[in-house]
Formats: sequence, structure tokens, C-alpha cells
Amino acid sequence: MSIIKDANLAASGRQKIEWVKSFMPTLTTIGQDHIKNQTFAGLKIGMSIHLEAKTAYLALILKEAGAKVYATGCNPLSTQDDVAAGLASLGVEVYAIHGVLEEEYRDHLNQVLNNKPDLIIDDGGDLLEAYLNLPDSQKWPLIGGCEETTTGVLRLKQLAKSNRLPFPMMNVNDARCKHLFDNRYGTGQSVLDAILHTTNVLVAGKTVVVAGYGWCGRGIAMRAHGMGARVIVTEVDPVKAIEANLDGFEVMQM
Ligand SMILES: NC(=O)c1ccc[n+]([C@@H]2O[C@H](COP(=O)([O-])OP(=O)(O)OC[C@H]3O[C@@H](n4cnc5c(N)ncnc54)[C@H](O)[C@@H]3O)[C@@H](O)[C@H]2O)c1
Repeated sequence: MSIIKDANLAASGRQKIEWVKSFMPTLTTIGQDHIKNQTFAGLKIGMSIHLEAKTAYLALILKEAGAKVYATGCNPLSTQDDVAAGLASLGVEVYAIHGVLEEEYRDHLNQVLNNKPDLIIDDGGDLLEAYLNLPDSQKWPLIGGCEETTTGVLRLKQLAKSNRLPFPMMNVNDARCKHLFDNRYGTGQSVLDAILHTTNVLVAGKTVVVAGYGWCGRGIAMRAHGMGARVIVTEVDPVKAIEANLDGFEVMQM
């Protein structure tokens, strides 16, 4: 049974999921084939993702393509309770509540694993870590999965290097359509959006320090500059530091 904040929020969540579909034609198109072929029939998929409308739509496509889907958040602060309720009302098992503390968050990850998924979709590596922390007697032969983000991939590489990665994981972050767009433009926008919603300050005229000129840092620097901020970049990689400098930013030691 799903663990969500309030089932009465489901209508609002379903409305958001319905609305977001029109912005996701690629997933819709890819999904059509898999729904027709029932690609995931008989398989269980466990997801730990930022639980909002776009990822909820992915969960629904997987379900319609035959899978039993179990979803939790990958950060309790990004979980949207109405979307969680909407997704649960559409037949996905959801264990996610906005703002829960560490212990409850870990419990929600374990709730997903209690269903013994065949495949996992991870964002940051917490679901895989929860699996690895299970006693050997409680593990099952998981087929594999995919990892969404830079930090999760770093964790995977460390596991692989020390021969502790028990099954194959696909590195989604290396897909150009991920880091070029989601990291740079998505995070570039959402980081500023979060700061603005939290502080309500004017960006123009402020000094913004961006630590790291990777994919996300480039996007954040570009957007902050566009809004009139003075942007300073700190970067440990000398080539990226030069790139930031040639892009017009001040580069300084942290
Ligand atoms: N929330 C989201 O939507 C979202 C999306 C994408 C990525 N992320 C996260 O954002 C972070 C950055 O991702 P990315 O794809 O930009 O990574 P990246 O590897 O492209 O960039 C990180 C940069 O930081 C630099 N760096 C490392 N240590 C530093 C230090 N001490 N001082 C200054 N610079 C330093 C590195 O040299 C590198 O250029 C990761 O944690 C990733 O998981 C979040």
C-alpha cells in the first residue's frame, strides 16, 4: 500500500501529470512502442527519483508498458505530495512524503526494495546503496538499472573500481541529451528559481559565486549573468577555469 501525505491531493497531482505530457513528446513516442509490445510485462521496477510530474509520467509509461512500478523520492525536499498522491491513484505504489527526515526517507527506500524489484531507476545512488546495505540473505538477483545524475555516477564508478557493483547500471548522465540540457539549462534555471522563491531578492547587482564550472555550474553562471548579477566562478580544473574566464566570468580561489 502506498505511503503518501494525503490521498485527497490526487486530483491536483493527476492534473499536473496530464499537463506535463504535452511537454514530453519524446517519452510519449518511445513509450508507445513499449506499451504496444508490453516490454516490461512481468517485471518489477523500483524508482528513486525527484518525485514531480515529469518523473511521475515516466513511472506511468513504465506501468503501461507492463511493469509493476514502486516509486519513492530521491530527496524529500523535491517530492510533491499532490503528484505522489496522483501517481498512487493511477496504480503506481508510492512511498514518498515531502520534507520527511533522514530515517523516514531511508524507510521509504526500503519500502521500494521490499518489493524485490528486477530493475531500479536511481537518481543520486541512494536506492542502490540501500540494496547494498541489505544483509546478503535478504538480497535477490536484481537484473540492473540506471543512474540519472553526476553524483550517483561518481558513486557507481567507485563501486565498480572496488568490484562492489553487483549488477550493470546504465549511466544516463553521460547521454548528451541529459548533461547538455538537464544539467546545464534545467539546473541552471531551477537553482536560481529555488533561490528566488526562498529569498525573494533581486538578482541584478548581486554577486553570485558559482563553485565548479561543470555542466550545472555553466548553466547557473549563464543564467545569473543574464539576470544582471556579477558572477565569480571557482574551479579546481584549470582548463575549465580558463573556459569560465573566456566566457567572461571572474575566476577566483574559493
Ligand atoms: N538537482 C538536479 O536537478 C541536478 C541535475 C544535474 C546534476 N545535479 C548535481 O549537480 C552537481 C554538479 O553536477 P555537474 O553535472 O555539473 O558535474 P560536473 O562534474 O560537470 O561539474 C562539477 C565541477 O566542479 C568542479 N569541482 C570539483 N570540486 C571543486 C572544488 N572544491 N572547488 C571548485 N570546483 C570544484 C569540477 O572540476 C567540475 O568542473 C552534482 O552533484 C550532480 O549530481 C543535480
